[in-house]
Amino acid sequence: MPLPGTEIIDLRSDTKTQPDDLMRLAMSRAEVGDDKSGEDPTTRRLEETSAEILGKEAGLFVVSGTMGNLVSIKTQTRPGQEIICERDAHIYRYEGGGLSAICGLLPRLIPGVHGAMDPAAVEAAISDGSNVHVGPTGLIEIENTHNVAGGTVLSLEHVQAMSDLAHRHRIPMHCDGARIFNAATALGVSAAELAAPVDSIQFCFSKGLGAPIGSMICGTREFVEAARPVRNIVGGALRQAGVIAAAALVALQEGPKRLQEDHEHARMIAEALVELPGASVDMATVQTNIVNLELRRDDLDAPGLCRELQRYGILTTARTAHEIRLVTHKQVDDADTDRVCLALREVLA
Ligand SMILES: Cc1ncc(COP(=O)(O)O)c(C=O)c1O
Repeated sequence: MPLPGTEIIDLRSDTKTQPDDLMRLAMSRAEVGDDKSGEDPTTRRLEETSAEILGKEAGLFVVSGTMGNLVSIKTQTRPGQEIICERDAHIYRYEGGGLSAICGLLPRLIPGVHGAMDPAAVEAAISDGSNVHVGPTGLIEIENTHNVAGGTVLSLEHVQAMSDLAHRHRIPMHCDGARIFNAATALGVSAAELAAPVDSIQFCFSKGLGAPIGSMICGTREFVEAARPVRNIVGGALRQAGVIAAAALVALQEGPKRLQEDHEHARMIAEALVELPGASVDMATVQTNIVNLELRRDDLDAPGLCRELQRYGILTTARTAHEIRLVTHKQVDDADTDRVCLALREVLA
């Protein structure tokens, strides 16, 4: 338990942010209608603005990243096909098996380096359906930034190379861009440039951008029209969705401007850790707002470190027995970052 009066710093995820005053005001004033019939003006504005920013023809609002990936993938595949994705992809590890349970797909996993699959390995794994024993490849999926790898970024060149090879084989490409604005910030390019090579992209308002709820899928108008009934099947067609879309609009306009700060805070934490005994951080993976810390000590495991940090009011997640994950976000400021570095030094030194 934290000492009484200690202010909590929640580093468990960038999903933990609270909606700010601007968002709450926008929500309270949102113009709304029945979105299932396309009559919610705020949701429509959010979809149009998102598509414009992502450089795609159209957008479709969904309640979560999981739903965004599921609807995008189901729209572009049919049961019995294979989907190629990275071994630790969020769609494979953390989305409840929806790929198989709902889309009827068999995941074909490729190990990546910092979340990036080797294009040659991907090409070798493609099945064109000519072998009756193997389901044809229906889709190739990439994740940018890659969550489990530590918020690592796929470069523009890598995304383009993957897309070129997918399209050479007439296979569509989906990007789980839950944190695409973090990737764009780290690379100094626009989200549209990172989205251009892929057929569909999902991004979250509820992570680094700081909104309470919501994700967007973007692609061609044809793709979005095909995705609309799929969203309905999974219960994702909403009524007066403008109430939440209004906060997402604020997140979209204001959120990307301050992501660089989150990245700097993550780097400061990682640099503090590197100096400490028995704490190992692969600095090459500290590219955005996630720090994966590996503990190499006999006297302290990851759950133990989480408990120690909790006494300082700092919440973290034990990923495994020896790894913890720290994620910076909008509600972690300079002073909080200093407090985290100090607490880590006190606990680990
Ligand atoms: C890379 C990635 N994709 C998708 C999701 C799913 O988003 P949601 O929790 O909104 O379903 C997450 C959530 O953390 C994520 O990190």
